[in-house]
Amino acid sequence: AEGITIAIDGPAGSGKSTVSRLVAEALDGGILDTGAMYRAVAWWCLDQGIDLTDRDAVARAAEEIDLDLGTDPAGATVVVAGTDITAEIRAQHISQRVSEVATNTLVRPILQRRQRDLLFGAAASRGFCVAEGRDITTVVAPDAHVRVLLTASDEERMRRRAAELDLEDNEETRARMADQVLRRDRDDSAVSEFLTAADGVEAVDTTGLGIEDVVEQVLMLVAAAE
Ligand code: C5P
Repeated sequence: AEGITIAIDGPAGSGKSTVSRLVAEALDGGILDTGAMYRAVAWWCLDQGIDLTDRDAVARAAEEIDLDLGTDPAGATVVVAGTDITAEIRAQHISQRVSEVATNTLVRPILQRRQRDLLFGAAASRGFCVAEGRDITTVVAPDAHVRVLLTASDEERMRRRAAELDLEDNEETRARMADQVLRRDRDDSAVSEFLTAADGVEAVDTTGLGIEDVVEQVLMLVAAAE
């Protein structure tokens, strides 16, 4: 059996990481966090002193990086050259610079090919695999069995992101975070269309919905595709 592939895209704070993890757990399948791959390349380049504006050098790094991306939803670890950087890639300075890697058009096809291999490999071995990102429904796996775009209002996305980061209830801190998230979405959308659903992609507006409701909707789409 080839296994069922599920593609979930959306902007920051759309809830796609949590929803993807819960869907993967419910199906006892695998998970692929493609954003973690862009973050790992950014981390590696900064660690190795590779200039993120040097497009060829960053593409070479993406090609050569010794990256092990876990697909177990219970704890998908990110290991680069034997070092566990699962926590490090979530740091502010990586979030701030990861779009420089993601908008490098030499890098994208290299990572997209790796992502496709991982998604279809994990789906085949586990029966199901959920891949989440910005271009999974359109470029990495337009042939996925289930394709979903999660959206949410800006206010809702900022509220979720603030809760996730455990930000203090300070207007200035929150405004700075909102600026960073919106700028990253704007930079990222120059290379991937993740604000409107492509043909055949199910758009789910999660504004005002609880996580469990969204998970249930995705599981219903999976059941219909099986
Ligand atoms: O999802 P997450 O916020 O961890 O993604 C980090 C960054 O990786 C995004 O801001 C974007 O620049 C890049 N990315 C991408 N394509 C994907 C997933 C993530 O360009 N499929």
